[in-house]
Amino acid sequence: MNPSDNTNSTLSRRQLGKRVGQVAAASALAGVAIPHVHAQGDATVGVALIGCGGRGTGAATDALRSKSARTRLTAMADAFEDRLKGSYNSLSNEKNKFGDQFDVPQARRFVGFDAFKGAMDSLRPGDVAIFATPLAFRWVHFQYAIERGLNVFMEKPITADGPTSRRMIELGEKAKEKNLKVGVGLMSRHAKHLQELHQRVQDGEIGDIVLMRGYRMHGPAGTFRSKPKPKDMTDLEWQIRRFHGFLWSGGGCMSDFNIHIIDHLCWMKNAWPVRALGVGGRHYQFADDGQPYVDQNFDSYGIEYTFEDGTKFLFDGRYMEGTSNHYASFLHGTKGCAIASAQGDCGTPASTFKGLSTERDNRIWRSTDNSSPYQNEWDDLLDAIVNNKPYNEVRRGVEASLVTSMGRAAAHIGKEITFKEMMESDHEFAPGVDKLTKDSPAPLKPDEKGVYPQPEPGKKKREY
Ligand SMILES: NC(=O)c1ccc[n+]([C@@H]2O[C@H](COP(=O)([O-])OP(=O)(O)OC[C@H]3O[C@@H](n4cnc5c(N)ncnc54)[C@H](O)[C@@H]3O)[C@@H](O)[C@H]2O)c1
Repeated sequence: MNPSDNTNSTLSRRQLGKRVGQVAAASALAGVAIPHVHAQGDATVGVALIGCGGRGTGAATDALRSKSARTRLTAMADAFEDRLKGSYNSLSNEKNKFGDQFDVPQARRFVGFDAFKGAMDSLRPGDVAIFATPLAFRWVHFQYAIERGLNVFMEKPITADGPTSRRMIELGEKAKEKNLKVGVGLMSRHAKHLQELHQRVQDGEIGDIVLMRGYRMHGPAGTFRSKPKPKDMTDLEWQIRRFHGFLWSGGGCMSDFNIHIIDHLCWMKNAWPVRALGVGGRHYQFADDGQPYVDQNFDSYGIEYTFEDGTKFLFDGRYMEGTSNHYASFLHGTKGCAIASAQGDCGTPASTFKGLSTERDNRIWRSTDNSSPYQNEWDDLLDAIVNNKPYNEVRRGVEASLVTSMGRAAAHIGKEITFKEMMESDHEFAPGVDKLTKDSPAPLKPDEKGVYPQPEPGKKKREY
C-alpha cells in the first residue's frame, strides 16, 4: 500500500507508466515543465538538511539508510552555528558508516536565516530538501524549493494558523503541478501496524467508530516551558530555540506534541473533525526559584472534537512532574474496540478486540510488524522520487496541523472553534517571517517581567 495522498495503490505498473505518461503529456500541453524527478547522472539523489537539530539529524540518517534509492547528503543549513556543528559531528561520525554518502564540505555548510537558500542552491532539480526547522519557516522554505524544482521532506506540524495553512495548500498544489514529490513527517501513516489496523477498521472488524480517545500525558518535555531569556540572547533567538513554547514558531506544545495521535485517529475515521471544544490551564506559573514561566503554553489541555456524523474524539494532554504517564490512542466501535498506539506517538503493537474491554480474552488481532515508521516514510518518498510516482502529502499535513491548532485555539480562546473558522482565520502569528534576519525584532514582545503574551480564555478574541 502506498500511503501518500493521490496514489491509487491498485494501479499496476503498466497503468502507472501510462498514467505518468498522461500527466507528462497533459503538462506539456499546458506548458508546464516537469523536472527530471531523479536528476543526478550518477543515479544518486542529493539531499540537503535544513534545520540541523534532533529530528533533522534523524531524518537525514533515515534518508541515507534508505534502500529505495542511493542518496548522498551534500549540504546542511541552520540558523545557528552550534546546531549545525552538533549535527555535522554526529552525522560525520564514522560509526554511521555513511562513507561517500556523507559529503558536506565547509563550502556547503550554511549558517543564518538565509542559509536555506545556499543549501537548496547547491542541489540539482530532482534532489530532495529536508525541512526540520520549527514550523514557522515551512512555507518560506517550501516556496523556495518549488522555485528550484526540488522534492521535499518536511517535518510536522507544517502550520499553526489559518493564513499559513491556506498558503501551504496553495504551495502544495504548485508542487504537484511541477511533479515534485513532497513527504510530510506524519509517520503514523507509514507505520505498517497502523496501516493494517486501518484496513481492519475499514473492513468492519470493530463495527462503526463511535468514539476515539487520545492521550499524551507525561512530565515537561523539550522546550515546553521557559524562564525569562538570558541577557546575552535576543528575544528572536529565544523564541526560535525554545519553539515548543511559542505559537508563532512551533505552534506550542499542543500542536507540536499531539499532532501524531490526532492525525492517526482521524485517519482511522477517514475524516477530520468539524469542530472542537477545549479546556486548559496553566497550573504552575513559577519555577521553584521563583522565576516566572514566560512561554505561551497551558500545561494541560482537554479537547472534545466532533465529526460531521456526530462521532466524538476526546484528546487529553498534560505535562507536569509527578503526575502519571499516559501516552496512547484508542478506538471504540459498535462491535469492538482497538488500541492504535500502545505507547507514544504510534508505538506497537496495535490490537483489535471484540466488545468494550481490551482484556486479552477479547483480543481478535495483535500486530507483529515492528519496522520503523521513520524509515518507512523515507523509503516511500524515495521510491516515489526514483520511480516517478505521484506523491504529495501537503494537504493532509496542513489538515492535521489545522485540526490540532483548532483544538488548541478552542482551549486558548475558551469557545467552540470550527474547522472552517480555523482555516479562514486572519490571525497570522508571524507575518513577514520570510524577511527575518538575526537582528529583526521578535514577533512576540515580553512585558517588563520578561513574560510573553499568553492565552486568556474568555478575555481575548484571539489566542493572544
Ligand atoms: N515526526 C516526529 O516524530 C518528530 C519528532 C521530533 C521533532 N519533529 C519536528 O521536527 C521539527 C524540529 O524539531 P527538533 O526536535 O529537531 O528541534 P531542534 O531544536 O532540535 O531542531 C530545529 C533546528 O532548526 C534550526 N532552525 C531554526 N530556525 C531556522 C531557520 N530559520 N533556518 C534554518 N535553521 C533553523 C534550529 O537552530 C535547530 O537546529 C519540529 O517541527 C518538530 O515538531 C518531528
